[in-house]
Amino acid sequence: MEFINNDIMTYAIQYTQDESELLKSLNKETHQKILQPRMISGHFQGRFLSFVAKLIKPQKILEIGTFTGYATLCLAEGLTKDGEIHTIDINEELVDFQKKYFDQSVFKNQIFPYLGEAKNIIPKLDLKLDLVFIDADKINYPIYLEMVVAKLKKGGVLIADNVLWSGKVLNKQKKSLDSETNSIKLFNELVKKDKRLETVLLPIRDGLMICKKV
Ligand SMILES: C[S@@+](CC[C@H](N)C(=O)[O-])C[C@H]1O[C@@H](n2cnc3c(N)ncnc32)[C@H](O)[C@@H]1O
Repeated sequence: MEFINNDIMTYAIQYTQDESELLKSLNKETHQKILQPRMISGHFQGRFLSFVAKLIKPQKILEIGTFTGYATLCLAEGLTKDGEIHTIDINEELVDFQKKYFDQSVFKNQIFPYLGEAKNIIPKLDLKLDLVFIDADKINYPIYLEMVVAKLKKGGVLIADNVLWSGKVLNKQKKSLDSETNSIKLFNELVKKDKRLETVLLPIRDGLMICKKV
C-alpha cells in the first residue's frame, strides 16, 4: 500500500537535508550487495531519526535490528560526546559490512554492536536508555516493548518502525491474518493503552510509532 504518492515523497526528500557521503555509499552498497535492501531506513527516515536524536541528545541509545547500520549511524549523530549506541542483530553475515561502515564513522568508538537473538541480549544490558529504536522481527515487537520500556528513563523516547505493516493493520479479520500482522496490531494496541507512554503514530513510510515515557 502506498500511503503518500511518489511525487509528494520525492518533493519531501528534495526539501530534506541531504545524507552524508558515508551514508550515501552505505545505502548504495546495501542495495548492490545485501539481500532485502528495502529493509534499510534510507535517506528520508534516516534524517528523521537523526533529527529526533539531535533533539534528545541521548547518552544511551538501543537499536533492535542493526541490518547494515544505516539507522545506527543516523541515531549516533545525536549522541552526547560520551554517549553510546548499542545495536543488536541476529544475522552474522552482516557483521563485516556493518564494521566496514562503523569504522569509517566519527562515532566508531561510540557504537557497540551485538550479534544474537535480541530477546536474549536485551535483559543482559545494564543500561538506562534515553532513546530506543525497535526495527527487528515483527513477531517479537510486544516482547521488545515490555523489555525496553522498563529500561527507558522518564522522558525517554521509543520509536518503532513498520507499525502500519504495508496497511495490513487495517484488516479486521484476526483469524485470516498472518502472525506478524497480528503481532504488530497487538503492539499498537499495547502502546496505545500503556499509561507510561505518550504516543503518536506517524504515517512516515511504513509507519513510525513515536512514544515518550512520562
Ligand atoms: C528492518 S532490518 C533493520 C533496519 C535498520 N534498523 C535500518 O534502519 O537500516 C531488521 C533487522 O532485524 C534483524 N533481526 C531479525 N530478527 C531478529 C532477532 N530475533 N534478534 C535480533 N535481530 C533480528 C534482521 O537480521 C535485520 O537485519
